[in-house]
Amino acid sequence: MSTERVKRVVGNWKMHGRLDGNRTLLNEVLAGAKDVPAAVEIGVCVPFPYLAQAGELLAGGRVAAGSQDVSAHEQGAYTGEVAAAMIAEFGAKYVLVGHSERRTYHGESSDLVAVKAQRALAAGLTPIVCVGETLAEREAEATEQVVGTQLDAVLAVLSADEAARIVVAYEPVWAIGTGKSATSEQAQQVHAFLRARLVAKDVGHVSVLYGGSVKPENAAELFGQMDIDGGLIGGASLKSNDFLAICRAAQ
Ligand code: PGA
Repeated sequence: MSTERVKRVVGNWKMHGRLDGNRTLLNEVLAGAKDVPAAVEIGVCVPFPYLAQAGELLAGGRVAAGSQDVSAHEQGAYTGEVAAAMIAEFGAKYVLVGHSERRTYHGESSDLVAVKAQRALAAGLTPIVCVGETLAEREAEATEQVVGTQLDAVLAVLSADEAARIVVAYEPVWAIGTGKSATSEQAQQVHAFLRARLVAKDVGHVSVLYGGSVKPENAAELFGQMDIDGGLIGGASLKSNDFLAICRAAQ
C-alpha cells in the first residue's frame, strides 16, 4: 500500500449527461489528459446508467470512472439501490459517499455514509468521503465540530488498512454550485484540521480534496495549499476545457 499523498482531480457530473454528449466529453477529457502531469490522478463520477459507457470508453486509459452513490446493502430486496459489486463490474474505481446533496435531500446520516464507505472498500472501490458544513454551521463557528464528526463516523468503522484506502473531500455546502468558493485560507484551515484527524489514525497520506465552485481561475491557488491534494469538481467537470485546466493545476 502506497503511503504517498496523491494529487487527484475528480469530476462529479451530478444528474447531468446524455449518451451523445458524454461520449464527446469523455473523449475530450481522455485526449486532453495527455497534457496533465502523470502524477495527477483523474476521475469522473457519472450517473449510474452511464457507468457502462464510461467504463468502456475509459478502459485502459488514465481517467478512472466512478459513481456518485452506492447502496449500504450488499444485495437483496432493496428496490432502486445499486450495490458496490455492481459498480465494480463496470471497471469503476471511485464512489462518492456522503455528498451533501445526498445528506440534505435523502437524509443520509454519517453512520449510513460510514457503511457505504465500507461496502465500497469491500468491493475494491475507493470511496470519496464527502464532508462539509452549512453556512449556518460556519457562522456558528461549528465547522470543525461538524466535519470532524462526519469524518470520525467513517474512521470509527474502518480498519487501519481500510482507512488507508479512502479519499476525503471537504466541500463547504455554501460553496457548492454557488460560484462562491472558500478562500484558499479558509479551505486550508479545514484541510489541516482533517489532516490531523487522519494522522491520528495513522493515515496521514490519505488525499483530502477540496470541492465547491472550483474553476480554472481559482484551482491553482486552492491546490497550492499545503493540505489540499486536489479537487472534487461539479459544474466545471461538464466542460472539458475547464475540467482539464483544473486537472493541470493540480500538479
Ligand atoms: P461545484 O460542485 O463544483 O459545482 O460547486 C462540487 C460538488 O458538489 O462536488
